Amino acid sequence: MKDLLRLKTSLNEEIENILNAQIKVEAHSSSVYLAMSSWCDDQGYDFSADFFAKQSEEERKHMMKLFNYVNDRGGRAISPEIVNIPADFESFRGVFEQMLEQEMYVTQQFNNIADKCIKLKDFVTFQFIQWFLEEQIEEEYVARRILEMFDVIGEEGTGRWEIDKHVHKVSYEG
Ligand SMILES: [Fe+2]
Ligand SMILES: [Fe+2]
Repeated sequence: MKDLLRLKTSLNEEIENILNAQIKVEAHSSSVYLAMSSWCDDQGYDFSADFFAKQSEEERKHMMKLFNYVNDRGGRAISPEIVNIPADFESFRGVFEQMLEQEMYVTQQFNNIADKCIKLKDFVTFQFIQWFLEEQIEEEYVARRILEMFDVIGEEGTGRWEIDKHVHKVSYEG
């Protein structure tokens, strides 16, 4: 019977823990983007409000992709508790700066997971997270391109209004 119990999961405990930590990071990202969406809406940046609402949904999907993976491998995914979500942001530009910082942090976390997978020889999880690493190229690219618009268009006069109109048009072709 004991042997059967051990066969229940093929996931190393450390890998299970680090994936659960990432589930929490994705859930946190989703909530922060939702807060940004609400702030943008309140400030009259309607296109950005939509943009961040979609980003929030994307992060929720990332969370569920990790969540299902942990359970499918016989581990136990933990529904994360999310705290410290801001309601206020300093500026329109600041919101996108925070987006880039958040995405760079997420990329770093996936690099750490990849590193752990190699150390523990979990090549299945290593392969699984490649999708996320590729996704991060796009996420960082979009945030950087939008921040560039602040420099190119400028924030004076109708600048912010113009930037808001173009936010959702930024895409990564790969
Ligand atoms: Fe994500
Ligand atoms: Fe993201």
